[in-house]
Amino acid sequence: MADMTKTATLSFGDTSLELPVHSPTAGPDVIDIRKLYAQGGVFTYDPGFTSTASCDSTITYIDGDKGELLHRGYPIDQLAEKSHYLEVCYLLLYGELPSAEQLEDFECRVTNHTMLHEQMQNFFRGFRRDAHPMAIMVGVVGAMSAFYHDSTDITDPWHREVASIRLIAKMPTIAAWAYKYSIGQPMVYPRNDLDYASNFLRMCFAVPAEDYVVNPIFARAMDRIFTLHADHEQNASTSTVRLAASSGANPFACIAAGIACLWGPAHGGANQACLEMLREIGTVDQIPEYIERAKDKDDPFRLMGFGHRVYKNFDPRAKVMKQSADEVLELLGVEDNPTLQVAKELERIALEDPYFVDKKLYPNVDFYSGIILDALGFPTAMFTPIFALSRTVGWISQWKEMIADPQMKIGRPRQLYMGETRRDYVDVENR
Ligand code: SDX
Repeated sequence: MADMTKTATLSFGDTSLELPVHSPTAGPDVIDIRKLYAQGGVFTYDPGFTSTASCDSTITYIDGDKGELLHRGYPIDQLAEKSHYLEVCYLLLYGELPSAEQLEDFECRVTNHTMLHEQMQNFFRGFRRDAHPMAIMVGVVGAMSAFYHDSTDITDPWHREVASIRLIAKMPTIAAWAYKYSIGQPMVYPRNDLDYASNFLRMCFAVPAEDYVVNPIFARAMDRIFTLHADHEQNASTSTVRLAASSGANPFACIAAGIACLWGPAHGGANQACLEMLREIGTVDQIPEYIERAKDKDDPFRLMGFGHRVYKNFDPRAKVMKQSADEVLELLGVEDNPTLQVAKELERIALEDPYFVDKKLYPNVDFYSGIILDALGFPTAMFTPIFALSRTVGWISQWKEMIADPQMKIGRPRQLYMGETRRDYVDVENR
């Protein structure tokens, strides 16, 4: 914990409390309210945790006003341009960029854990063909807790290490097999001679009937999407993983909980919802109608891929994603892709509209990612599984950080109770 010399005075009624203030290495100070209830007999109230720091962390820093995202201090745009996903995984997990030897060892360990226990194929076959791949991922990742007993003792650092490597390594296989099952094609096994992104593309798009050669441009775009989604501070799904893990639950089960939370359209599910929205808008001339609907309080419609709890300026990931979308579609010769044209015009119009400007609503990570994934050949149902695959390293890194913290306690928020006060039971004949 940082500096303990500063304090905040909180006065209410006859009570006045001096609360410690901690200063971070970056970002706002925090007022330590851990003793507030014991000393003051009151709770704080913060539904949605808009003003609450749930933990201290050294992994990812976001400055929503500056549109800044740092992983262990390195800006996301530099990592997206100069690094690659498994190197970012190493950075998130261990705190420093690896040496060439460390990177080779890490990549070798991940590569050699990409296969699933053969019996796990039965879980895929237990789902209906039209099951959403996120439903399958929640189920199969949760089922890993029944298969890998040699990496579930969370008090053992080596178990934590093995569980981390297994999850990072196996998520592409699980996501790819969920896709293959949904389209009635045979599952394709991972190959150890392919890099992480190429392996995933091949498992998704190869068929036994013919050779499949990964397009290096696709692989680079895929890897960049993985990197841009890797971690994002204490977002809803990461907070879910932390809360689940705070009870000492099985690491695979905790990641399954994170996948379930990410699925929601307000969170990771927005990439699928955004592309479906862009397709529904269809053409540039339809945009004004949807802009008006997004502004109408009586209409539940929102611009998917727009807005963010933290970024009140641009989302730095959206900027990189937009560049990548331009590159991929140009290389594919579809730079006039109607969905991309609608997205660009929608962004331009929205960012000139006072409603969006005043509410600081900008494109987020989900606004352009679906356009790239669509161009790579993925159906919209696979967009969120790809987000989950990418974010697994973030969940795992935050999980490891919390479990290794000797101060870790089970998460147990309180409430503002607005229900009935005590009353006695009334027999049914007297009601
Ligand atoms: C992700 O937390 C993370 O870091 C998440 C994430 C990560 O990497 O983990 O970045 C990934 O989840 C990105 C967000 C993806 N979701 C979407 O694109 C769905 C559309 N966006 C909205 O649902 C919304 O913007 C949220 C959920 C993202 C943020 O909501 P907040 O911060 O709780 O803001 P809010 O709902 O209180 O909205 C503030 C105002 C409201 O108007 P008023 O009630 O003040 O009049 O802005 C409006 C909202 O109605 N608003 C929108 C809008 N988003 C907010 N209006 C139209 N379209 C939108 N998209």
